[in-house]
Amino acid sequence: MHYSQEIIDEICRRNDILDVVSSHVKLTRKGSNYFGLCPFHSEKTGSFSVSPSKQIYHCFGCGAGGSVITFVMNMENFSFTEAIEYLAERSGMTLPKPVESKEQREKESLRSRILEINREAGKFYFYMLRQEAGKRAHDYLTNRGLSEETIKNFGLGYAKTGTNNVYGYLKGKGFDDEVLKQSGLFNADPKKGFLDKFWNRVIFPIMDIQNRIIGFGGRVMGDGEPKYLNSPETVVFDKGRNLYGLNFARSCKKNNLIICEGYMDVITMHQAGFNQTVASLGTALTVAQANLIKRYADEVFVCYDSDEAGIKAALRAIPILRDTGLKCRVIDLNPYKDPDEFIKNLGSEELEKRMEDAENAFFYEIRMDERDFDLKDPDDKTKFYKNIAQRLLQLPDAITRDNYLEAVADKYHISEDSLNDMVKKQAVRAENIRVYERPGQLNPKKEIERGCLKVQKNLLTWLCDDKALYDIVRQYVKPDDYSDGFCRELAEGIYRMLEEKKLNPALLISRYEDEERQREAADVLNSTPDVPDDPADKDRALKDLIIKILSDPLPGSGDSGGILAAIERKKRVEGLKAEFAGKRLL
Ligand code: UTP
Ligand code: MN
Repeated sequence: MHYSQEIIDEICRRNDILDVVSSHVKLTRKGSNYFGLCPFHSEKTGSFSVSPSKQIYHCFGCGAGGSVITFVMNMENFSFTEAIEYLAERSGMTLPKPVESKEQREKESLRSRILEINREAGKFYFYMLRQEAGKRAHDYLTNRGLSEETIKNFGLGYAKTGTNNVYGYLKGKGFDDEVLKQSGLFNADPKKGFLDKFWNRVIFPIMDIQNRIIGFGGRVMGDGEPKYLNSPETVVFDKGRNLYGLNFARSCKKNNLIICEGYMDVITMHQAGFNQTVASLGTALTVAQANLIKRYADEVFVCYDSDEAGIKAALRAIPILRDTGLKCRVIDLNPYKDPDEFIKNLGSEELEKRMEDAENAFFYEIRMDERDFDLKDPDDKTKFYKNIAQRLLQLPDAITRDNYLEAVADKYHISEDSLNDMVKKQAVRAENIRVYERPGQLNPKKEIERGCLKVQKNLLTWLCDDKALYDIVRQYVKPDDYSDGFCRELAEGIYRMLEEKKLNPALLISRYEDEERQREAADVLNSTPDVPDDPADKDRALKDLIIKILSDPLPGSGDSGGILAAIERKKRVEGLKAEFAGKRLL
């Protein structure tokens, strides 16, 4: 659902940021801003500020920041659309009914047809498990320790041997081939037509949080390959956005979730009382899944297999989980392979203890790294410490980093100061890498781009801070003159608002649905510009910014059409340099 800019603007106008934030954070006034303890990281002194005039917030500690919409998104774990809807309701606004295009209507109808197919297929498998043909499968589940109640709760079923059992059943229910084809339940054979994808397998229906069957997993009976077969992605099944078991776990009221690898793990865990357990669906954990977890819990326990593959998966998942702001710990299942085996051998009370003892994910990462180094060898030891420094750098904010630095230095008997030096050294390198890796911005000219980006942002920050500057700047630098796409877009908004003498940073931030972009925009709009106090220096700094921005080649300047423009731009810079030499701008 997409809301127009007018509506988003209206929502920002009706929901004063001070009002909204105040109901979560105790704020005290200092000058024109308000300060309090940041709700997004733990701190003892308030680095969280709200600017009523700009209608934005910013935390100097963890870098969180944005408009009233961003705040609600972060505070309530809402999506952009959900935040809009929430704020609309809060301010008594009625949102317009969505206007659906023909295409959207068709897609919606396909979705509901496929959900119906899944429901019917699920019923069919469920029924088969209880027939003579399903006896072996039923025995298998019972032998694996599942109670009748558990089997029923999870809707487990059986796809019997044969090539078109489900197909025949669904055809009988009146579904046409076109829709059946898109359900992911069949393989299309040029000669034989539709063939059941699942046969001779125990079936695990995969449900979304509204308990609708969106796909299936099937475990082969006996030793066939592959052991588990999963539905392909369909219009209703997006693997990276769902978690197996979340439909039950979401209402467990435990404030933590446990994430493990497999279907059987989830089911055994639930049966043993750990009804907060979920699994990613046969794929590596995604950012979307981590965000999903964050909606329901503050802490997550990683409970992957104890083998090498499980360790690797855990090491990949931890940074993703941590980046969403989740507290993260790792459960040690040794000497057993997975939660299912663990519970069968040691029982749930023992697992409860392992949960209490679960290792902080950061220390887990370091302990796993440690295996690659020989700490008796001085060089190796240095490498290991460097590795720790690198890990520290991946932590989301300075305060967390400080706290971990202290703890890890203590644990491994390293001097805090030396470790800190190492971190600082690596930070310079890491900074470049991080910018380089920013999605959608891959550019081999990373260093150059980085410098330029900073310059462009700095001019925009300055403009927002000192509106009188606009009359000067607009004569030299137009929005199109910014080489960075993001800055150009932001400049367009800022210039237009300054033109109308109504600069409203919150509205500008709200134009971005992407949180990372909102944060970046907030950063530009709410920082203090990096400019000298002395008037002469200040004048020089402004000229310098203008020249630097105009000297940076625009995208496409190497194309045939762009070359002439690039030459023009170069000439302009030379002209300006001469012009600036003889006059003051400020
Ligand atoms: P495991 O092989 O560890 O499965 O894969 P498991 O749960 O211990 O299986 P059992 O106990 O022998 O029945 C863990 C998860 O990885 C996915 C499945 O989601 C499985 O539950 N997987 C595994 C696949 O998708 N395909 C495969 O071939 C194997
Ligand atoms: Mn297993």
